[in-house]
Amino acid sequence: MAENTQNPAAGNAPAKPKPPAPGAAKPAAPVAAKPAAPAAAKPQAPKAESAPSGVYKPPVERQDANPYKDSRVGIVGSWLQERFYVVLPIIDYLKKKEVPKHRLSFWYYFGGLGLFFFMIQIITGLLLLQYYKPTGAEAFSSFVFIQKEVPFGWLIRQVHAWSANLMIMMLFIHMFSTFFMKSYRKPRELMWVSGFILLVLSLGFGFTGYLLPWNELAFFATQVGTEVPKVAPGGAFMVDILRGGTDVSPETLTRMFSLHVVLLPGLVLLVLTAHLTLVQILGTSSPIGYKEAGLIKGYDKFFPTFLAKDGIGWLLGFALLIYLAAMFPWEIGVKADPLTPAPVGIKPEWYFWAQFQLLKDFKFEGGELIAIVLFTIGAVAWLLVPFFDRKASSEQKSPVFTIIGLLALTFLLINTYRVYHDYVLVAPH
Ligand code: HEM
Repeated sequence: MAENTQNPAAGNAPAKPKPPAPGAAKPAAPVAAKPAAPAAAKPQAPKAESAPSGVYKPPVERQDANPYKDSRVGIVGSWLQERFYVVLPIIDYLKKKEVPKHRLSFWYYFGGLGLFFFMIQIITGLLLLQYYKPTGAEAFSSFVFIQKEVPFGWLIRQVHAWSANLMIMMLFIHMFSTFFMKSYRKPRELMWVSGFILLVLSLGFGFTGYLLPWNELAFFATQVGTEVPKVAPGGAFMVDILRGGTDVSPETLTRMFSLHVVLLPGLVLLVLTAHLTLVQILGTSSPIGYKEAGLIKGYDKFFPTFLAKDGIGWLLGFALLIYLAAMFPWEIGVKADPLTPAPVGIKPEWYFWAQFQLLKDFKFEGGELIAIVLFTIGAVAWLLVPFFDRKASSEQKSPVFTIIGLLALTFLLINTYRVYHDYVLVAPH
């Protein structure tokens, strides 16, 4: 900021009045000048701020553009500071961010864990992309190649598959924990809404990624999954768009691939930025009534204390991930063959089991449409919860919403277990 320090008022000093042109009216008096004597019978000189004809005149006194220029930092720090000083107030703000400590603080770690597994997905996904070939002819064999030939390819593939599952698991825990703590209440409504969109996008990741190995299981599960919208009005058109034709084919693989590696990551990064920015701006909430009841045991500074604790969670998450990837590898299966009949017991990934079971329960004439409508209404209501729960927004307990949350959780758990029971425990082999 050499210019600024040497000439702080550069560009701010009032311009010298020009000498009057011969015959022209006298120039306006400077701001500080006393009003002209009435005897002069001239119009009063306008003040600098309200210059005639809307001409803007900057105020004489202006704040220093870089109030941080004298703060003591290292050479690199001051180099950056001179260029990015506008963000320094933001950093100052973030330094003050604190996370409340209380008996439910444990649940604050799951959002960060979701973020950790998402980052693992980006890294391992990019590595897999170096060898994966998204065509009907080569997709399966490229997976076999990654698994068997590429050094550590098996590990990268297993980590990608397991981390996807763990990420979605963390997001469900994060969603329900923020729900029961009513963290969605005013002013955090948009944190909830952006979070919900992130969950939907993450489920989209799972769905589109499932087909990429192009094995039999994935092929038929995608056939069942992409069939679902068909029962809704205009659904056949949507199925066509999703599949790139009437049936699941290599065209479908191209669509799923582009959604999986381009559109969804782009959308997630956008919404995630909004979500995390809101987390930083609005800070972490405490459960309703905790402050008043003296249940807050203190505060952790977000930088670095809470982040360091988050880091411990990430290390544990990483250990679990590597353990699962090494000990419980996902099979490659056999290459998809559209001409063979679907094997028995085709089911989607576990995070779609609740909806899958609901569709099975409504397997009567027109039932599937009813199930889809019910589920959609439920999801939209869930998305709008912060706007319905007026009590929580005025810092009062809202047991009705706690009960609604418990019912939703019970529905998901029971239905998921039913599929687990029918398809895994008593597997119809
Ligand atoms: C990729 C997905 C997501 C990531 C990476 C993520 C990340 C985070 C992080 C790091 C926090 C701050 C720490 C914490 O409270 O856990 C947070 C807070 C929050 N998240 Fe998420 N989140 C995601 C999805 C969701 C979902 C699915 C929901 C709910 C539908 C949600 C709702 C919230 C709310 C309401 C808060 C504020 C918590 C509070 O202030 O007490 N997020 N999120």
